[in-house]
Parts: sequence; C-alpha cells; structure tokens
Amino acid sequence: MKKYLVIGNPIGHSLSPLIHNYWMKKYRLTGSVYEKRKVEEKDLKDVIKEIRENKIIGVNVTVPFKKLIIPFIDELDFVAKETQSVNTLYKVDNKIVGYNTDSAGFWNTVNILYPYNDDPSMPSPLEGKCVFILGAGGVTSSIISALYNKGAKIILSNRTKKKAEELKKLFPELEVLDWGKRPVVCDIVINTTSVGLTKHEEIKIDFSDYNKNFHKNILFYDLIYNPKETSFLKDARLRGNRTMNGQMMFLNQAIYAFKLWTNITPEIDDEVIKLLD
Ligand code: ATR
Repeated sequence: MKKYLVIGNPIGHSLSPLIHNYWMKKYRLTGSVYEKRKVEEKDLKDVIKEIRENKIIGVNVTVPFKKLIIPFIDELDFVAKETQSVNTLYKVDNKIVGYNTDSAGFWNTVNILYPYNDDPSMPSPLEGKCVFILGAGGVTSSIISALYNKGAKIILSNRTKKKAEELKKLFPELEVLDWGKRPVVCDIVINTTSVGLTKHEEIKIDFSDYNKNFHKNILFYDLIYNPKETSFLKDARLRGNRTMNGQMMFLNQAIYAFKLWTNITPEIDDEVIKLLD
C-alpha cells in the first residue's frame, strides 16, 4: 500500500484527500491511498521518519506547519527556500525534499490574465503594474514569490505590521503599508487574510473608488474558495472589477504535488471541480 498524507491542525475540512483519492482512482493507481492526519508540532519529526522508512510516500503540509516543518527536512527546492514555506514532501535519492507548489499553483491562475513568457527577452505583462496584497499569513510568501521580480510594484499590508516587515526581509523590494490604508489604484488586489472565511466578515478597506471605467480590468483575487464569493469579491464584482477565488490555485497546487509523486499530470475535469463545490 502506497500511503500519502496531508498534515495540519485543524485538518477536518481539508479537501485534499477527496481530490487526490479521486485522481488515484482515475489514473488506476491501485494500492495508493491519501489520508488526512491532525498532528501537533511534536509529531512532525515522526512524520518525516515515516517518509524516510517508506511508510508514507508523499505528504502535503498545511496550516500551521508550512514553516515549522523546515528544520526537519534535508533539502528545500528553490521556491520553498525563498518563501520559507513548504506544502509538499517527497523522498528523492534518500533525502526528504520540501517543495512549495502553492506559488506555482497561484501563478498559473494569474497567468491566464497576464500571459507570461519565460523568455527573458520578452516584456513581462506585469511590467509597470501595481499589486496590492492584504495579509501576511502562512501562504502570503508564496503569493509574493510568484509575482516578485516580474516588473510589478508589490505593496503589502497586514493588520499586524511586524509580520509584513518580516516578509520584507525575504523580499526586500516590497513596500509595506499600514493596515486600513490602500494605494490610489492597483491592477491586482489579493486577499491572503482569513477574513471572509466566515460569512459577513469584511475587510474594512474602502475600495469604492475602484469603480471607474478603466477599473473593469482590475483583478480582485481572494485565496478563499469556501465561501465561493466573499464580500471582498462580491463588492468587486458589483463595482465591475474582475474577480477570481482560490479554487483554481488550490487545484493547481494539488496537481503539481500529484505530478511530483506520480509523474502524472492530472487534468481538471468536471468531477474534480464538483468535489470542491
Ligand atoms: P498564520 O499567521 O498563523 O499563518 P493565517 O491563517 O495563515 O495564519 O493568516 C491569517 C492572516 O489573516 C494574517 O495576515 C492575519 O493578520 P494578523 O497577522 O494581524 O493576525 C489576517 N487576519 C485574520 N483575521 C483578521 C482580521 N479580523 N482583520 C485583519 N486581518 C486578519
């Protein structure tokens, strides 16, 4: 039996088992199973030991362990190192490697609107743009890393300013703004806070003047996908801005993890979308 796992705390609501088990069945990986496990910080080293002993093949790591797991890992991929955030573990050449697939998962979705060519001679679609990021929690560094060094000015604001300043140590070009303030106009506004997970919770920042004609090109992106439309996105939609929730980012990070473990790139079909609804 090939066992895979998502670890976190809380973990009850994780949809990763549904998705990965669906793909394991679809791609006939009989004998593979993906489970969820609620762990404490003291359990992390035992999980790593289980991977070392091939009792577990691959692990997804979620809140609040994406950074805390790092001391137990042998190697980090470039993005995991840059973001200090690991969401996927896999043993390669007898070493436990920590990967970050959140960043690519996010970038893939924004890329639809801002097609980016890796050819350095081509101009970046983000050149001269402004991105405003709200929050400085566990996943924020992955969002920043996806957008960093692509020509956009990145402005970060978090209720607890110190956490935004900490991220500036990892990404020195960031501009930190006091919570509650906002830049005059930005092209992309991203909510990485947990505000909106509960209905009627609102981010108390006034975006009401983001409703002029040219503002229909502004993208409001919320990493939350349950509820599907937070008040942050609803307000944006009513103003005529573009909106996107975190569903495709979540699916994409799972696709990249699945690919790492199995060498299969699962396709996004109606069934898997239904699992998320
Ligand atoms: P962690 O910080 O443990 O990684 P998270 O759930 O990933 O937790 O992040 C929560 C994010 O939502 C943080 O940016 C948090 O702001 P603080 O750093 O000030 O705590 C933000 N957040 C949560 N509730 C909020 C609220 N009511 N208003 C503004 N920001 C909030």
